[in-house]
Amino acid sequence: MPRHGASATIVDMLSSDSPRTTRTGPTQMHLADVLVARPRRIASRLMHHTAPATTADRAPHRELVRRDLAEYANRIDLDGVVRRHGSPLLVLDTDRLTTQLLTLRRELPDVAIHFATGALPHAAAISAIDAFGAGFAVASRCEIDLLERAGVSIARCLHNHPMTSIADITGAYLRGIRTFVVDSTAQVAKFRELPEVAVLVRLAFPAKGDRSPSFGVRPEDAPALVDHCLHAGLRVAGFTFDVGSQTRSASPWQRAIRGSLALIRELEQRHSIRFELLDLGGGLPVEYDQPVPALAVLARSIREELAAAPAHLKIAIEPGRFVAAPAATLVTRVVGTADRPDGRWHYLDEGVHGAFSSAGAAGAHPLVFAASELTDQPTLDESAERATRRRVARGHVPVTLAGPTCDSDDVIARHMPLPSLTVGDLLVSPMMGAYTAATSCNGLTPTPFVVIPG
Ligand SMILES: Cc1ncc(COP(=O)(O)O)c(C=O)c1O
Repeated sequence: MPRHGASATIVDMLSSDSPRTTRTGPTQMHLADVLVARPRRIASRLMHHTAPATTADRAPHRELVRRDLAEYANRIDLDGVVRRHGSPLLVLDTDRLTTQLLTLRRELPDVAIHFATGALPHAAAISAIDAFGAGFAVASRCEIDLLERAGVSIARCLHNHPMTSIADITGAYLRGIRTFVVDSTAQVAKFRELPEVAVLVRLAFPAKGDRSPSFGVRPEDAPALVDHCLHAGLRVAGFTFDVGSQTRSASPWQRAIRGSLALIRELEQRHSIRFELLDLGGGLPVEYDQPVPALAVLARSIREELAAAPAHLKIAIEPGRFVAAPAATLVTRVVGTADRPDGRWHYLDEGVHGAFSSAGAAGAHPLVFAASELTDQPTLDESAERATRRRVARGHVPVTLAGPTCDSDDVIARHMPLPSLTVGDLLVSPMMGAYTAATSCNGLTPTPFVVIPG
């Protein structure tokens, strides 16, 4: 028999999205800083282009990022932080996590946030996100360990990996998780002995011509999978999808939401049931070496599409990169320099086996600046800004940046425009909070962190 009449709904278990701890002090200072006290142009950059750049402000993207980073490095006394803690170093600013979560809540006010833990598996980040009142999505045992250690209520988490072992499922279940994801009939049997579990069916909406996605059942095959779950006595709480990390257009979400809602209407009628949840997955983009659409623009389209959802359906989202990336700044140091046939190479104390492990994945190419480029503070005087830009750009040459291992694949970036550098010089990369420290969860030596406000 289907277990659709089970008492506690998945939404009851998961809903948590109201601030349980009101943070004061540094958080308020930071937000006031960003939203009020800073000149409007700088504030808009820090808020991911919530306002368009002014017409006068046509500096190249790299220069706009440099100005923000210079202002930020000055504000947090990055020099002092590195003098105290050395390099390589990830400077984690938990206020920035809160700022991102607030922005997300403002733009998608009726959507429950479940942070994708794997994007930034760090205790201080988890505590800040938990204090904000967001929930968590997990995909591994290691992430559950971390949440448990941080005192997060595991019953409020959802497990979003559709292809896990019985041991992992049972372990997660014993620690309190009741919401899992399936995308294949073989997976369903793994929940047989576990009472009160509900599943979300993961859907895939590949664009025409895309290769088969790693996860998700096609919408046309989903009714059979839902049937299979119900016959196995497994409650189907709803559906989920993931449009892919760093998605720069609203159309994949629009298509997936439209397709999911059509399926929900069809299956609710066919089975005389009500689904509870549609989970929009992750994918919201941030700015690395290219501008991306503002969250406000993407969210408007998402909200318009969600307007067709039935009133009883709750909506969730699992942002990872959008919340985590702006929260950490990476400081590295040049350990060696060589002139090769293709130009100058600088070897850093951090590489693709460390914090740069995801460089290039999903089209995310982190920018790297010499610390010496960050000494000029942004001003509102456009001609002074143009003069600074010319001076900063003068003497830049495209270089190759490589990591510290003796591995020829340890190449972080090619053609990175940088000023003259020598051994010992510091480099700074913004937007390094997502999928950078994550490798430490896989057993590699973690890049040291310092947490601010500390
Ligand atoms: C199912 C699922 N949800 C959420 C996320 C987080 O994605 P992002 O960091 O792009 O927001 C991922 C990332 O891999 C995922 O696989």
